This record gives sequence, structure tokens and C-alpha cells, in this order.
Amino acid sequence: MTNILAIESSCDETSAAIIKDGHEMRSNVVASQIKSHMRFGGVVPEIASRHHVEQITQVIAAAFKEAGCDWDVIDAVAVTQGPGLVGALLIGITAAKSLAFAHNKPLIAVNHMAGHIYASQLVERLNFPLLSLVVSGGHTELVYMPSHGHFQTIGDTRDDAVGEAYDKIGRVLGLAYPGGKKIDELAQEGQDIYDYPRAMINEDNFDFSFSGLKSAVINHLHNADQRGETLKQADIAASFQAAAVDVLVAKTLRALDHYPVKDLVVAGGVAANSSLRQKLKIAVAKAYPDVKLHFPPLALCGDNAAMIGAAAQYHYDKGEFADLSLDAKPGLAL
Ligand code: KG4
Ligand code: ZN
Repeated sequence: MTNILAIESSCDETSAAIIKDGHEMRSNVVASQIKSHMRFGGVVPEIASRHHVEQITQVIAAAFKEAGCDWDVIDAVAVTQGPGLVGALLIGITAAKSLAFAHNKPLIAVNHMAGHIYASQLVERLNFPLLSLVVSGGHTELVYMPSHGHFQTIGDTRDDAVGEAYDKIGRVLGLAYPGGKKIDELAQEGQDIYDYPRAMINEDNFDFSFSGLKSAVINHLHNADQRGETLKQADIAASFQAAAVDVLVAKTLRALDHYPVKDLVVAGGVAANSSLRQKLKIAVAKAYPDVKLHFPPLALCGDNAAMIGAAAQYHYDKGEFADLSLDAKPGLAL
């Protein structure tokens, strides 16, 4: 039996969790800073760091309280090393290093994107080989995993991440940051009546491009505005979402065609998207009925320390520990 204290502070959530054996969530405490960044329309790195400093000790104490345990049961301290904002990452890393040193526990460095993939393991066992569609504010990747802890990025975005396109369009529509969830909600009241581009959908690769779609939507809004026309926001949202989700589903199916896998794991903030969940479920059940599809529960789609604790288990099992020279890696790849 292994209990790992995990810490996550890569962006705008300060989080600590205690995870047993890589899958049992004894606690998961998340302090969100979204309200502080909202008025700026995006995450302000300096504000994020300050909030992490204020929150980190309390969040860790709350994780112990929620789990009802003490340091004597903790086997290791895991922390997000990257990718993320350097100042934000450093707060979690400094806390993890200090605690590991003070309590004489091994330290584990975890990749944030690996964490997103392993979030599904907090609910169901993962079977390998697997394919993961990783969709967040900073990433849009297709990742092939032959076994635990091995990542092969087979497709990536050539420009914007899908979450970034959601948030930028949300901003132009005047929605509060982050716009992804709001666009998803608006889309459910609208109709897919505008034919926005589905870049690279027929290209024989696993890459994505969302900047053309983003520009097409923004130009459409500006042109209508100049003509004094008012477009229905819900229809814009529904049409944009249909284009974005069509590409995500098509590329994932293409990847499943080339990489026979047991499981398909959708990971990252955009995994919360209702249309992606619905359309991917239908498409996979039809074309690959033997592939098991995992979506993390909504509460575990966004950034949280529980997923870091789940991913850390495989480093622990292999004896892969970091030392106190551990540094933040803002551009860390899988
Ligand atoms: O994984 P995450 O919490 O942070 C990063 O590591 O980036 O992902 C945040 C992203 C944001 O772009 C947010 O707008 C998007 O996930 N998001 C959504 C939804 N919920 C969150 N995008 C589309 N539909 C949603 N329901
Ligand atoms: Zn994330």
C-alpha cells in the first residue's frame, strides 16, 4: 500500500491530494483563482504566483484533514514539474521539496499532461496499449502509450490549442474567462448554421490546427458588426463547437485506425465538453466497439493534484525519484 501526497500549481489552481495506490482518492483539495484572473480575461502569471504562495500551505493541510491521516502514512511527495507557468510551478516545487526534506520522504517529479491522462485511472483501470486525446488550454495532442509511463506524441496542434480557441472566442463574445464552459452551454441553445472551416480534417496525419477556425469565427463576428447585424451568440457557439469537435473526433478515429489499442482516454480541461463526450462516444462505439472509452469525471477534467498523485505511482513503483535540485520546466514535453 502506497500513499502519495501530490501537489499541483502549474497554472491557476492550487491543489493538494493524497492518493492511495495510484487510484484511490483519499483527498483532493483544489483552490481556484479563476475569479482573480477573470477581470483580465486570462491568467496573469504574477497574480497566479502570489495566490499559490497564499494558498499552498492551507491546501496541503486541508488535504491531510480530508484524508484523515498524518505524515507517518505518506510514502512520497509528488509535484508537477511542468509544463506550466514558471513562477506558478516553482511554488508547488518549493513546497514539495521542503516537505520531502523535512519529513524525509522521496520526491517525485510529474509531467502535468501525464497527470491529465492518469486522471481517468482514479475511476477505472487503464488497459494498454492506449491512445489519449489530450485537450486543454495549452495542448491538443494525440498520445500513444504502449505501456504505463511511456508516451509517444503522434499528433499535435500546429498553432493554437483547442481550449485556447474556445477561450479567445469566448473573450470576443464578451463571456467571462475561461470561455470554454460558457461556449459549451451556449452551444446547447443554438444551431449549427454557419459552415466554419475544419482544418486538416482530411489530411493523412494526426495533427490539428485551430487558428484558422478561431480567425474565421472572429472575422465573421467583426464583419457582421460592421454591417450593423447582430448574430445570435448561441448559433456562433454551436457552429464553432461543431467544427472543433468534428476535427477532434475525425483525427482521433484516424489515429485509432493506425494504432490498434484497448483503451481511448480523453484528458484535459476540454474533456469536459458535452459535445465532444457525446460525439466521440457515438463514433467510437460504432467504428471501434472493442475500444474502451474513458472520460474523467467533470471534477477531474480541470487541473487538480489527484491526477498528479495517480501518475506519480508509476514513478514510485520504478524507483524514479527526483532530488532536491529539482527545477521547474515550463515547456516540459511528454
Ligand atoms: O486542463 P485545463 O484545466 O488547464 C490547462 O492545463 O490548460 O484546461 C483548461 C481549458 C480552458 O481552455 C477551458 O476553457 C477549457 O479547458 N474548458 C472547456 C470546457 N471546460 C473547460 N472547453 C470546452 N468545453 C468545456 N465544457
Ligand atoms: Zn491542465
